Amino acid sequence: MDKRENFGTRLGFILVSAGCAVGLGNVWKFPYICGQNGGAAFIVLYLICLALLGWPILICEYAVGRASRHSTAKAFHVLEPKGTRWHRYRWFSVAGNYLLMMFYTMVCGWMINYALRMLTGNLKGKNPDEIANAFSNMLASPVQMTIFMVISVLIAFGICALGLKNGVERITKVMMLLLMCLMIVLAVHSLVLPNMREGLAFYLVPDLGKITEIGFGNVLFAAMSHAFFTLSLGIGAMEIFGSYLDKTNRLAGEAVSVTLLDTFVALTAGIIIIPACFAYGVQPDSGPSLLFITLPNVFNHMAGGDIWGAAFFVFMTFAALSTVIAVFENILSMTMEIFDWDRKTAVCRNIVLIILLSMPAILGFNVLSGIQPIGAGSTLMDLEDFIVSYNLLPLGSLLFVLFCAKKNGWGWDNFIREVDTGKGLRYPVFIKPYVRFVLPLLIIVIYIKGYYDMFSKYGTTSLIFWMCVAAVFLALIYSFASGKPKE
Ligand code: TRP
Repeated sequence: MDKRENFGTRLGFILVSAGCAVGLGNVWKFPYICGQNGGAAFIVLYLICLALLGWPILICEYAVGRASRHSTAKAFHVLEPKGTRWHRYRWFSVAGNYLLMMFYTMVCGWMINYALRMLTGNLKGKNPDEIANAFSNMLASPVQMTIFMVISVLIAFGICALGLKNGVERITKVMMLLLMCLMIVLAVHSLVLPNMREGLAFYLVPDLGKITEIGFGNVLFAAMSHAFFTLSLGIGAMEIFGSYLDKTNRLAGEAVSVTLLDTFVALTAGIIIIPACFAYGVQPDSGPSLLFITLPNVFNHMAGGDIWGAAFFVFMTFAALSTVIAVFENILSMTMEIFDWDRKTAVCRNIVLIILLSMPAILGFNVLSGIQPIGAGSTLMDLEDFIVSYNLLPLGSLLFVLFCAKKNGWGWDNFIREVDTGKGLRYPVFIKPYVRFVLPLLIIVIYIKGYYDMFSKYGTTSLIFWMCVAAVFLALIYSFASGKPKE
């Protein structure tokens, strides 16, 4: 008898999945990557990447989850033909989820910190220097950052401890609905700001000149990598929700809903942020500090800015927390399956583990700032993000696609049978050759190009070294994917 819990409702599944997808990627990274890559032209490429890369891979993850009814810790063991080696990927997906949380909990803590500051008027009336100082003081204080990181870990694990239906589903549903309401209010407000036309034009009217200036390859690569990140692909973070799903609905349609919701939130976050920057004369391309330095200044100039600022950071906090909850659910499920723990034990042990694992990212901004692992000025968080975003996500996505498409894996027929079980949108079978041959190739090209761009600026020796690293990783994935089934 299968004792695994299922989602209570379809809306619950869609909102929890979207809660995992909608996170700092949408509300923090997307607006500044968009700003740095020329605005609207980047968005066009990003949407194409979501449809061509994100959506088919998301379907693969859901299908593997729903058919195996396990997290990636066991899913490949269940589905793979005997004698093959796909299941070795499990350690990468476990590592990927932990690595992601090693910096995500910290940034989620920043959001809670800023939401409280806005609610209590801590940044009100401060001049730009003071606001910039407030942010650098926070980064310089391991104690302050640790406290808020621990708060976010405890809230999220507290919710997971209540179980899938009673905790994760019930609370994420409320949080996501509040997030949508807040977001719509903020977006409408943004559209009545002075000079909003200029901001919207930057955001919505593609300027091809900008793309040539930045380099088409760079913009395309940014768009592709972000498509993986925003949909949480490659390390089984979405697979887990497939494993809690019943067979009522076909998976292609569910993946469309989640992709659309995620895209809607990202685009609306841009509408909230970018016109506000133009209205107060600041460029939206200032990178990660956009949210914590640029925007508090903008709110200080805005009528009713303390209320809008508070609403904005509460919105950010919901987005980040819903993702942390979703990834913790996956981590719990994985450790419960590997070590046979019950939920309580898994929660207690993982609280300690995640808090300890989150320390390097925090200390990397102060005590350990001398360690600059991937180039001058980089931090430990950048290293963690690099391992996850530039390696595990594309490589894991590649593995999922090959697993679903190849004969020595789960195989196309099993995959399609699972995807098309239920009601709703059928899988468009004509894309089979695309998924089997073109998609894996695209992912490999993106992967290599990412490495090339990242390291070519540090000189030839460094480039050769890192290209060898990339080749080793690719070879590893190849070895997992090339096992021969035993008769
Ligand atoms: N998608 C989330 C965001 O946009 C981040 C995230 C959660 C993620 N789980 C993931 C990214 C798994 C990659 C893999 O913020």
